[in-house]
Amino acid sequence: MFQLAVIGNPIEHSLSPQIHARFAESLGLCVNYQKLLAPLDQFESTARQFLASAQGANVTVPFKQQAFDLCDQLTPEAKLAGAVNTLWQQNDLLFGDNTDGKGLIKALDQAGFSLRGKKVVLIGAGGAARGALGPLLAEAPSELCLVNRTQSKAKALSDDFAEFSEGTRLHACSITDLSGEFDLVINASSSSLSGAPLELPANFSAKQAMDMMYSKASGETAFTRQMQALGAQTSDGLLMLINQAALSFERWCGKAPKLDQIDFSFLRGDH
Ligand code: ATR
Repeated sequence: MFQLAVIGNPIEHSLSPQIHARFAESLGLCVNYQKLLAPLDQFESTARQFLASAQGANVTVPFKQQAFDLCDQLTPEAKLAGAVNTLWQQNDLLFGDNTDGKGLIKALDQAGFSLRGKKVVLIGAGGAARGALGPLLAEAPSELCLVNRTQSKAKALSDDFAEFSEGTRLHACSITDLSGEFDLVINASSSSLSGAPLELPANFSAKQAMDMMYSKASGETAFTRQMQALGAQTSDGLLMLINQAALSFERWCGKAPKLDQIDFSFLRGDH
């Protein structure tokens, strides 16, 4: 029996236990994946106590940076993201990976959104945007325009990743630089939490749009609705959630879930 968990605060609404249960079922593995609520000042003790007798844990808001700081060994993806969403223990050492970025790339691919040679906008400059940036640049878009409500943060993030941007025009843009049509826009800001649309210039449009946030009920977020109104083909973040989970599962259990053979429609709707 694989003992797994997701640790966060809050954690009540996490879909991870249901997603991992489907992975296990599809591969004939025995997995117990639980939700662990860590008090805000007790992430370390909660994680260490659980991992002492478990195969692994996911880490979610607001503990991903703390998890990064605790690890003895980090994957290149975790180092680049500065955050950890996947933990496991081996020989008394704590290991950390970050599967969010690769999960996003797989989700974009499955949604039919390509990156190579494309003009891409990434909105946001917090933890989610930082985690996405390295894997996005590795797919060689022709241009990657970073926009953030607080522009100085977008500039700092773009400077941090300049060395990984060979072949891509990586730049921090102001909202007014977003004129004309882009191929793809990804929302890595938490704007959809508020339910309010982003303030976008009148002549901005994109062929495709992905929100890293997901909506259980309808599959639509404030951002996907806003971009649909501008003519974009859209996807919310559920595919990303499933793909980052699959990469964590493979890391712990040694087998990759066959996503095309699993029906995830049960994740939609109120429950
Ligand atoms: P996360 O880990 O989800 O990225 P974060 O590090 O707190 O969370 O970053 C949140 C991001 O969403 C930031 O880029 C934030 O913009 P600021 O840097 O200006 O704060 C962005 N954000 C949050 N609410 C927003 C809103 N209503 N409109 C636009 N951007 C918003």
